[in-house]
Amino acid sequence: MLTAIIVGAGHRALTYASYAQQHPDELRIVGVADPIEPRRRLVAELYDLAPEQCYASAEDLAAQGKQADFIINGTMDHQHVSTALPLLAAGYDMLLEKPFATSEAELWQLVDAVQKYDRKVAICHVLRFAPFYSAIRQKILDGAIGEILNIQAVEHVSYHHMAVGFVRGKWNNKKRCFSPMLMAKCCHDLDLITWMKSGVAPVRVASFGSNFQFRPEKAPPGAGTHCLVDCPIEPDCLYSARKHYIDHPQRWAFYVWDVLQHDAKDQANKNASANYETLTLAEKIESLKTNNPYGRCVWKCDNDVVDHQSVAIEFADGATATLNMVGGAAKPARLIHIVGTHGEIQGTLEESRFVIRHIDPRPGCETAETVIDLRIGGDMSGAFGGHGGGDLRLMADFVHLLKGEPRSISTTTLEDSVNGHLVGFCADRAMEEKRVVEVTRR
Ligand SMILES: NC(=O)c1ccc[n+]([C@@H]2O[C@H](COP(=O)([O-])OP(=O)(O)OC[C@H]3O[C@@H](n4cnc5c(N)ncnc54)[C@H](O)[C@@H]3O)[C@@H](O)[C@H]2O)c1
Repeated sequence: MLTAIIVGAGHRALTYASYAQQHPDELRIVGVADPIEPRRRLVAELYDLAPEQCYASAEDLAAQGKQADFIINGTMDHQHVSTALPLLAAGYDMLLEKPFATSEAELWQLVDAVQKYDRKVAICHVLRFAPFYSAIRQKILDGAIGEILNIQAVEHVSYHHMAVGFVRGKWNNKKRCFSPMLMAKCCHDLDLITWMKSGVAPVRVASFGSNFQFRPEKAPPGAGTHCLVDCPIEPDCLYSARKHYIDHPQRWAFYVWDVLQHDAKDQANKNASANYETLTLAEKIESLKTNNPYGRCVWKCDNDVVDHQSVAIEFADGATATLNMVGGAAKPARLIHIVGTHGEIQGTLEESRFVIRHIDPRPGCETAETVIDLRIGGDMSGAFGGHGGGDLRLMADFVHLLKGEPRSISTTTLEDSVNGHLVGFCADRAMEEKRVVEVTRR
């Protein structure tokens, strides 16, 4: 039986912590640290915690010395390193959300601390644990397509995900969230590319991108500033807040109604609930009409991040890779196509199915194909959470690692998670400075 403490009791940390409810014989949640009182209270109720097991911050928790085996750190992007450092010093191992740093300086600070204190830290690169990607990685390790010479990765971010995360929401402005869209959304894809090429360093990066669509000049004629307040075109608008958040009550609810939890008066009000399920329709509409940022027109927000970006990467062995991130797509999709010296692998995460093609030079032949359909193994059942079933498989993997079991192919050291992040930082520099950037390690 291992014990864990939640630091940053938001949507992500609670998702991972739910592993303790599914596997009470393996994991117990024995504490929470979060400045928001209703969130601490929700966790205390869920996991039967006493008041002395609830802390106002990561720093307060660290000051008490080690109280559990590991930390589930689900704070926001720019808080990952500052909250991790005192906890690593206090003796904890850690599951740490991505992007695990918002600059190269922070990234190396964390790497140094993990080495200095000799802790186990796993980054929540949940897609590595989705059966779709781990099966592809296993094929690469088995030599199924020879040496990788090129990887093409694509992420289409759906119109509603784009609007909630990167136009109206928490990751829409670098001055506030410190992560550009590439790092906030696609550090997974960059990690997958560098993980597939594990052991070969990325050396040069080029990148292009912009905010093509979500700016005032692109607003439809007559659009107001708030969907439910002053917008005559709202009934016909593809991005109406009413259509996205009221007509689809479950879609992104944990972001859209979060504002009510963060509200200062809620923190003072001991009866305020961190549970958005209890909100009435009238309360939701009133919120979208007043102080809720998700009630704003998508063309008239304070967003400064891109809505599409392309990245080209060169590796030390001469192999290349591209990532195309496109926000505002009708349907979410993650595609990957890996070409090796003996064959290729091509698939779509959402279909949980990929094809392996081999060169077949025999007379009358050209290509031999094998279809790997992971749906047959229950991959799409949802029992393992979001991200293609990666969320709770990652949690299981980390728990097993701490119990002394060998590392899986998906759990690597922090050093091996560094490459994808380095590519991301370099890509943004390349895009902004309009030049090719060399990836430097210290
Ligand atoms: N792995 C994935 O696929 C994935 C998906 C979505 C989001 N994320 C990442 O997960 C992280 C968390 O996202 P979220 O939406 O759950 O965030 P959130 O804002 O809901 O939760 C963060 C919590 O941290 C708390 N906090 C702030 N300072 C703290 C401190 N000093 N000590 C303790 N707690 C503190 C906040 O009060 C808040 O409750 C982000 O970095 C995000 O980028 C990862």
